[in-house]
Parts: sequence; structure tokens; C-alpha cells
Amino acid sequence: MKIDILLGLQWGDEGKGKVVDVLTSRYDVIARFQGGPNAGHSLEFNGIRHVLHIIPSGIFHKEKMNIIGNGVVIDPVIFEEEILALEKMGCTPTENLRISKRAHLILPTHRLLDAAYESKKGDRKIGSTLKGIGPTYTDKTARTGLRICDLQSPNFESKYKQLIEAHKEILDQYHFEYGDKLPEMDRQWHASLAKLRQFPFIDGEYDIHDALQQGHSVLAEGAQGTMLDLEFGSYPFVTSSNTIAAGAFTGLGLDPHLAGRVYGIVKAYCTRVGSGPFPTELFDETGQRLREQGNEYGATTGRPRRCGWLDLVALKYAVMVNGVTDIALTKADVMSDFDTINVCTAYRVNGQITDHVPTDPDVAVEPVYTTLPGWKADISQCKSYEELPETFKAYIRYIEEQTNTTVSIISVGPDRNATIFRN
Ligand code: GDP
Ligand code: IMO
Ligand code: MG
Repeated sequence: MKIDILLGLQWGDEGKGKVVDVLTSRYDVIARFQGGPNAGHSLEFNGIRHVLHIIPSGIFHKEKMNIIGNGVVIDPVIFEEEILALEKMGCTPTENLRISKRAHLILPTHRLLDAAYESKKGDRKIGSTLKGIGPTYTDKTARTGLRICDLQSPNFESKYKQLIEAHKEILDQYHFEYGDKLPEMDRQWHASLAKLRQFPFIDGEYDIHDALQQGHSVLAEGAQGTMLDLEFGSYPFVTSSNTIAAGAFTGLGLDPHLAGRVYGIVKAYCTRVGSGPFPTELFDETGQRLREQGNEYGATTGRPRRCGWLDLVALKYAVMVNGVTDIALTKADVMSDFDTINVCTAYRVNGQITDHVPTDPDVAVEPVYTTLPGWKADISQCKSYEELPETFKAYIRYIEEQTNTTVSIISVGPDRNATIFRN
């Protein structure tokens, strides 16, 4: 069996959670491969809206196995909150969720360090979700981090204390005031470990290979988006993990020969939370209209998302670095009443037209737009491709031609059922 990968092609919040939930019926295993509680993946069904942070978006399908891969970073406190919320809804995640022993732990001081680093950056702040993501991945690459498997070690407490002390030294160097917050954070963190320990800690790479050997199918779920990738995003305004397809191989321990389809999730316009380049950002009332009609407020932090037109330069780049085979287009219903729709087809950089994404985030980029007609119709009730208005089909064709990729899924609303598959 092959393993399919699903990820975001923009700056996150493209609708990955919703599409994973819809696709889960086709797979046996859903495995998250990177990121942590910085992610907020929303799903809706039976009138219920739910947001997941660390837990894979296949969790509501109780007969499907969900795996938190080695590439993910886990805050036990947030994990416990997520599990309690699921249990309240009648789910029994202990039966269909497993955690890789190699996944790293977010400690309370990682969160404090995140805040300390951000506060020092002033104008250059990343706009981090402050969940401790950067400092945790820093410890991972510095080879000083703590992993899930350490929870099974008799020396866990001493390893924990050693790392906390090292972090406190850095916090002191930064003159970062955390007062008496730490003992309570520490107490809460330790208390939450009991919940984490209720779940099987697994050698995820073996489990996934065994599952594939037995003929089971696996969907790898990404978090964030390609333009937030540590390597290929708008560095340094990025997250600290590999959000691209390659991240699925290191984040789960996969054999690259087994790669199957790569589903790239694309919003019909663009949004970004946090700082950094956003060439098509709209500061006018159209931007405000997208924000309000699209309810563009962060699922994790509640921050208003920056909104702008679809950026095909960035999208083609994302399709290229991920080897996307299928696009899932989301949220076009949000633009149902727009007379015209702009799409950015090139950048003007230093007076020159280019179709390359600049490496330096400080380079001034002016978007070059093509204007397309809006569809001026409510598409949210459409159930098949045939029912969609011709103008919207033309928008889809335009994206397909530009990206040389098929739009095979069209999401027309937040609910599970508001999804159109094209053969
Ligand atoms: P993710 O991080 O990629 O999973 O995306 P988020 O959940 O952070 O943000 C996407 C938001 O759009 C959520 O509130 C979803 O419920 C919602 N959503 C997803 N697909 C659609 C769609 O096709 N139309 C509309 N109107 N909303 C959608
Ligand atoms: P999902 O999976 C949108 C952004 C933050 C910030 C930068 C670094 O829901 O699409 P971090 O907390 O990782 O240090 O923040 O990345 N960011 C996201 N933006 N969606 C996300 O996840 C994000 N996760 C991180 O806003 O700009
Ligand atoms: Mg999100």
C-alpha cells in the first residue's frame, strides 16, 4: 500500500482539518507528522464545530487508528485538554490514538523561552503562537530535548530538572520576568502526564511500516503550510519544522518509495497570521470583507488573520516543492458575492517581472494581478461539480492551468458534507 500526504500550500489555516476528516473514511491510519499545539485544525459535523491542535483530524472516526508521529512536539497540558474535550463529546481516544516514543515534549520553560525570544525581537517578531514550538525544536536539534520515551525512564525527573535549569539560565540572561508562574506551570505539567500515560507509546515507524505491509492505507497529516516551512518558507518568519511533503518522511519514518498522492490544501484567497511577507495582502475593505465573511480569526489564538488575493506565484512554488498531485480548493463560498476576483500571476521585484519567490523576506514585492469574473452565486449548497456556476468552474480551470495540477476536491463550507469530489 502507498502512503498519501495532505498538507497546506499557503500560510496555514487552509482547511486541512476539515479535508482530513472528510478523507479519513478512505484510510485505515491517520498520522500527524510535524508541528504541535501551534496548529488549530477545525472540523464540523452534525452542527458541532471542533478544533484539534496535536491530535490527528481522523480522531472522530473511531474505527480508524490515529498516530502522533515522531516529528510532532507535544505539550502534555494541551494534550490533556484536548483529550478531555473529546471524551466530553463521547469519544474514546484511548482506543484509537497512539503516540510515537520519539516525539519531543514541550516543557513549561519552552513556552517562557518562546515569549522571551519574541519580546527581544521587537519589530522583527515572528508573531509566534507562543506555544513553545521554536524552543522545543531548538532543543531537539541541539540534542538536549526530552522525548516521550524519556517518560518511561527512571531518570526522567533528573533529566527534566536539568533541562529546566538550563532554560532558567537563558531566561535570566534575557532578563525575562516569569515571577512565581513557573511552579504552578510545573505542577500542572506534571499532573497532565497521567493523561498522556493512558495512551500507548509506540515505535511509530515500525507500526506504520507494519500497517502498510498488511495492506492498510495511511494518510499523513501536515500542520501549518508550505510558506511557513523552516527551509522554504519566508525565513525567518516561519515555524520551526518542515511543513512540506519531505517532512512526512522524517516526521513518521517513511520509505519514500511508498509515497502516493500528495493533497495540497488551498484556500481560494490567502490568509496569514503573524508577521512576514504577504505580497497580496489587502489593507482595504476587501481585506476586511474576506476576514468577516470567511471568519478569518485564528483557531488557536483568536488573532485576526491577514487576508489577501490568491497568490499563484507562491502556489506554484508550493506545488513544486511538495510534488502535489491533487489540490483541494476550500472557502470559495466566502467570495460568492464578489463581482471580480484578483489573482496574482507574477511579482515585480526591483522593476523586473519574476515568477520566483524571493529568498530574502526584506525584498519589496509588488504583485501583478489578473482580474477574473466573480461567480456571484451561493455555491455552499452545491453537491456536485456539475451544479457549480460556469464562472467558478473557469476559476478552477485557471488554477489548474497555472499550477498544472488537478483540483480534485472542492470544499464549499465548513461542514463535512459541504465537499465535492471530482473523479
Ligand atoms: P487548518 O488549520 O488548515 O485545519 O484550518 P483552520 O481550521 O485553522 O481554518 C479553516 C477555517 O475555515 C475553519 O474555521 C473551518 O471550519 C473553515 N472552513 C474549512 N473549509 C471551508 C469551506 O470550504 N468554506 C468555509 N466557509 N469555511 C471552511
Ligand atoms: P495550522 O496547522 C497559521 C504561524 C504563527 C507565526 C509562525 C510561527 O492551523 O495551519 P510558531 O507558533 O510556530 O512559533 O509560529 O507560524 N503559525 C501558523 N499560522 N496556521 C498554523 O497552523 C500556524 N502555526 C504557526 O502565527 O507566524
Ligand atoms: Mg489552523
